[in-house]
Amino acid sequence: MNARLKETAHVTGIEWLDSENALLRLNAPEAARLAQPGQFVLLAAGQMLNRPFGVALTDPDAGMVTVGIKKVGIGTGALLDLEQGSAIRLLGPFGHGFSLDNVNRAYVIGGGTGIFPLLFLLHVLRSRGVETFAGCGFRTLQQALLQEDFSDVSDQYLTACESGGGDVSGTAVDALDALYLGHGRTERTRVFACGPIPMLRAVNRWCETHDVAAECSFEARMGCGFGICRGCAVPVLKAGALDYDRCCVEGPVFDRRLIAWEALS
Ligand SMILES: Cc1cc2nc3c(=O)[nH]c(=O)nc-3n(C[C@H](O)[C@H](O)[C@H](O)COP(=O)(O)OP(=O)(O)OC[C@H]3O[C@@H](n4cnc5c(N)ncnc54)[C@H](O)[C@@H]3O)c2cc1C
Ligand code: FES
Repeated sequence: MNARLKETAHVTGIEWLDSENALLRLNAPEAARLAQPGQFVLLAAGQMLNRPFGVALTDPDAGMVTVGIKKVGIGTGALLDLEQGSAIRLLGPFGHGFSLDNVNRAYVIGGGTGIFPLLFLLHVLRSRGVETFAGCGFRTLQQALLQEDFSDVSDQYLTACESGGGDVSGTAVDALDALYLGHGRTERTRVFACGPIPMLRAVNRWCETHDVAAECSFEARMGCGFGICRGCAVPVLKAGALDYDRCCVEGPVFDRRLIAWEALS
C-alpha cells in the first residue's frame, strides 16, 4: 500500500444529527488533499478492524475530512464514542469515485448512509458550475437528515418520505421523478446515486425507462478494503458475460450499465 495513504487522524469534533447519526470531523491533511467525491476512507480506533466510510466533506486548506456515520455496531459505536483530540488510524482515500467530466446537469439521489458522500459530490459539482438537483429518501420525516445542507448545494432539493410529510410522498426515486419532471435533461445529464441496493436497483430501472446515464455507488460489505481479499465482489457484465469487480478498487462507484443487476443480492 502506498505509504502516503496511511495517516494518524485526530478527532476535532462529533456533531450528532439525531440519536443514531453523526458527522465525525477529522484533522487528516493528506486525505483532505487527495480525496475525490465517491471515494472512501478506512477508519479504526484502538484494536478495532478498519471500517469503510464515504468521504462526506473535505477542506484541504484546513486539512479537514468529515464522514457521516450511522451507529450500527461495535466499530461505528467506538468511533462515535471518541473524545475530541483522540487519534485514530485512517487509510485512504480509496476507490474509484464519481466521474465529474462531461456533465452539466446532475440529479443526485441518496438513501440510508448513502446520503453522506453525496454532500461532497454536490459541493464539487457546484464548484464546477454543474446544475444540481438532489433528492434523499427516508422512511419518516423525523428520520430526515441534513436537509439544509443539501438545499444549500442544490438548485432544488426534495426530501421524500415513505410515510408522507416530506416534499414528496414515496421513495428517493419518486423525488428523482419529481425533479426530472420539473427540469428535464440536457445532452450531458447524469444521475448520481448512493444508497441501499433496492434503491440503486430502482434508480437503474428509472434511468433505463428514461434513457439517462447514471453512476451508482455501492456500500458492499468489505474485508480488507484495499483490493486483496475479494470479499467485496460486485457482479458486473463484461462483454456480455458475468464477472465480479471489487467494490473497494473498481468501485464503489460503477456505471449502472456495467452492473449485472439480476445477479446482485
Ligand atoms: C464504500 C462504503 C462506504 C460506506 N459509507 C458509509 C458512510 O458514509 N456512513 C456510514 O454510516 N456507513 C457507511 N458504510 C457502512 C459502514 O462501513 C458499516 O456500517 C460499518 O462498517 C459497520 O461497522 P460496525 O462495526 O459498527 O458494525 P458491525 O458490527 O460490523 O455490523 C452491524 C450491523 O451493520 C450491518 N452492516 C455492516 N456493514 C454494512 C454495510 N457495508 N452495508 C450494510 N450493512 C452493513 C451488519 O450486517 C450488521 O447488521 C459504508 C460502507 C462501504 C463499503
Ligand atoms: S474488501 Fe478486500 S478486496 Fe475489496
